[in-house]
Amino acid sequence: MTPAAAPLDLSATLRAAGYTEPELHRLLGITVPDDVGLLNQAPALERLARDYSAAATLIRLFFLETAEPEQHVARVLARRGCADLVALGMLRRRSGKLQARVRIDAVGGQYFVADRRFQGADRAALRLPNGDAVYPASSDSLMLRDAVVVPGARHLLDLCTGSGIQALQLAGSTERVVAVDVNPRAAAAADFNARLNGVENVDVRVGDLYAPVRGERFDVIIANPPFVASPYANAPSYHSGGPRGDRILRRIIAGLGRHLREGGRAFAITHLALRGGEDVQSVASKWFRDFPGRALVLVVETGTPVDLAAAQALFALGRGLEAYAAEVRRWVEYLRRRRIERVSVLLIAAERGVQRSVEVVDAQPRVLPIPLAPAPVERIKKWLG
Ligand SMILES: C[S@@+](CC[C@H](N)C(=O)[O-])C[C@H]1O[C@@H](n2cnc3c(N)ncnc32)[C@H](O)[C@@H]1O
Repeated sequence: MTPAAAPLDLSATLRAAGYTEPELHRLLGITVPDDVGLLNQAPALERLARDYSAAATLIRLFFLETAEPEQHVARVLARRGCADLVALGMLRRRSGKLQARVRIDAVGGQYFVADRRFQGADRAALRLPNGDAVYPASSDSLMLRDAVVVPGARHLLDLCTGSGIQALQLAGSTERVVAVDVNPRAAAAADFNARLNGVENVDVRVGDLYAPVRGERFDVIIANPPFVASPYANAPSYHSGGPRGDRILRRIIAGLGRHLREGGRAFAITHLALRGGEDVQSVASKWFRDFPGRALVLVVETGTPVDLAAAQALFALGRGLEAYAAEVRRWVEYLRRRRIERVSVLLIAAERGVQRSVEVVDAQPRVLPIPLAPAPVERIKKWLG
């Protein structure tokens, strides 16, 4: 089956209708797409209740993934546009309503089609090939994108491309990007997204990490690999990074020497699950033992196994609170059995060159609480005299 071709005018239509990142943030009060999850999808919908503007209609359809009356969608996309998107496999018609078969995230002036967050993947959407669900643009995607510095880079490699977000966001500031994903469905979605955004210098390849770029060298290598220390051995390809979270990342770092040009840079994001007595420095030093250059590892957040379990188990909420509680226990037991005591989120930058070092920096936000107004109890005491 050949995946559908992205209609060139769709992104212009979405933009003209106000389906843009600033408008999404303003109308929903969010800063990253996954600020709306299963827990708060309903309140997010309520924020837009009785808002029949073009932007709100498209947010419900493509971002909150609810079915919209066809006449509302037709006011934005016209009857013909609705019919075209149904034929394309992007929308489905059911009892007078239209439902999106993929989600669309608006990020940095571009659009990213991926599998749905709330409704589950629609396998035949856009005639995408079979494969694990395509990871939608999320906070980790954006944290990595914001950390990448690529002045003058001509030849870029995006490993684990998923929806293609890293490759496409950087395509404008470089000559050529190769984007690789092991999941054919993700690679097809990245290709669709390149065309959706009119980007012509991204070459998407299917394969395991460096296999599709054997013998090639790059100025910049970016990777957002699967990094969750997960109890699920058969998890979707975007998810599990083995018991410590670094199973794929270690292979990515091991290949940097072969694929980075002299002076070339690499950027990655990962989780790292640590046992008592272990520290980031000793693990990171092992990762970069054979790397001919220097590396900076920023610890941007650290949590307990319970924090990780509470967040990762959220997917089970759709089956009810009992299912969620069971899932939290499963994750906590898995991490405890492996004697994991904390899980850090790391941002990694590396540069190939003569200097060899691995520097770990605690970059967790330090917040100083400064009360701007007296506490309620102080006001009550003052009022009482
Ligand atoms: C967390 S998602 C990241 C997607 C995207 N780069 C982003 O920043 O949102 C990880 C992606 O890595 C891909 N992947 C997993 N193992 C891989 C491998 N061995 N080689 C290439 N891609 C892989 C998955 O299919 C998935 O699309």
